[in-house]
Formats: sequence, structure tokens, C-alpha cells
Amino acid sequence: MEVMTHSSTFLLPSNHHSSSVTYALVVLNRPLPRFTPLLWNHAQVRVCADGGANRVFDEMPLLFPSDDALDVRQRYKPDIIKGDMDSVRTEVLDFYTNLGTRVVDESHDQDTTDLHKCVAYIRDLTPNSDKSNLCILVAGALGGRFDHEAGNMNVLYRFSTMRLILLSDDCLIYLLPSTHLHEIYIQSSVEGPHCGLIPIGMPSGSTTTTGLQWDLNNTEMRFGDVDVA
Ligand SMILES: *[C@@H]1O[C@H](CO)[C@@H](O)[C@H](O)[C@H]1NC(C)=O
Repeated sequence: MEVMTHSSTFLLPSNHHSSSVTYALVVLNRPLPRFTPLLWNHAQVRVCADGGANRVFDEMPLLFPSDDALDVRQRYKPDIIKGDMDSVRTEVLDFYTNLGTRVVDESHDQDTTDLHKCVAYIRDLTPNSDKSNLCILVAGALGGRFDHEAGNMNVLYRFSTMRLILLSDDCLIYLLPSTHLHEIYIQSSVEGPHCGLIPIGMPSGSTTTTGLQWDLNNTEMRFGDVDVA
């Protein structure tokens, strides 16, 4: 089986950047994680989902308290604002469109979430290119309303052939497709020490790990299992 490697180098300053991966950033309408500027600098395209633009406008200057707010807003200008347009404030939309941000109104589509729309959009930006080196980082995908959180997790499955990472201040999650073996390189200066494997979507017939404190050896895992230990 082919090996898929995972390494959160996007949490390190850009000079540690591994050039084999192209990052895109999606900002959702949740408090900005403190490391959002790092994700921003690694990303080649930055998409705000609707009210996510308010978060960048309001909260990015708070992450640089000694800088002028206007300077910060000009420095962290979204490439695209996309979604329902029922949350982004007019003032924010005007500010960024004047700086050249593209606005893509999707209010006619009420069947998919803002995150789904943003991921589909990024996927279609370069229609025929290989997506295996593309990794979409999603800021603000976890925490807050649980139905939104669960909907965001479902997007991982809807786009299971793409690499998506959902992030909050407290954790990051991604799918480990059963089509691959997985090697996870921990950036111990910025993540860990805990790591959880959750068999959502379907049971895992056999999971074997090495390098964890309590490894699994050919263990079956399923969500909703009764603990008989
Ligand atoms: C895993 O389990 C098999 C038998 O089920 C055993 O032979 C093997 O030694 C175990 N490996 C480890 C690393 O414990």
C-alpha cells in the first residue's frame, strides 16, 4: 500500500516550508486561531467563507497589537470571499473589493455548507491539475455549534480524495483514507502530545500503529462500540 505522509509544517514559520505541498486556506466564521497568520503565509490562495471575512477584518489586527490596523488589513487581504453573503458586513465587503478581492455570491445554493462551497471552488480553480499535492487548511472549522462542526467533518468525507485539515486553537483533524498507509510526523514544538484515532464513517477492520504510547496491533475499531473491557 502507498504511504501518505502527514506533517504540520504549516504551523512553523514559512522558511521551514516543504515545497512539495501547495496550501490553500479557508477561513470560516469562527474566532481566528492564533496561528492564522502562519497559515496565511503558507497558503497560495486564501478564501473567506462569508462571515469569515469579518473575522479577518476584525481579528487579524488584534493578533498584531503593535501594528497599524489598516496596514494589517491590507497585508492580510483575502483573494476570494465566497458563500451565502448573509453574514459578511457591507463595510468589510467594500473594504476588500476595493483592494481587489473577488466576491463569489453563492446565495442561490442552500444545499451545501459554506465550507463545502469553498472546497469545491478551490478544487475547480485548476481543473485538470493533480490534486495530490494540494492541501486545504480550514481555520475555524472546530468549536462552537456542534452541528456546524459535524457538517465540517462530513466535508472531509465528501472530498475524501483531497487533503483537508480542520484546525482550531486546540486541535487539528484530518481523514486517514483506508487506501493508504499513513506516516504522521509530529511537530512537537507546536503540536501534541496527544493523538486520537476515531473510526467515524465506517468501522476500521484492522488498525496497527507504531510510535504511540499505547499502540494498536491489528485492532478492530468502530464508532459506537460497546466497551467490554
Ligand atoms: C501483534 O499481534 C500478533 C498476533 O496477533 C503477534 O504475533 C505480534 O507479536 C504482535 N505485535 C506486537 C508489536 O505486539
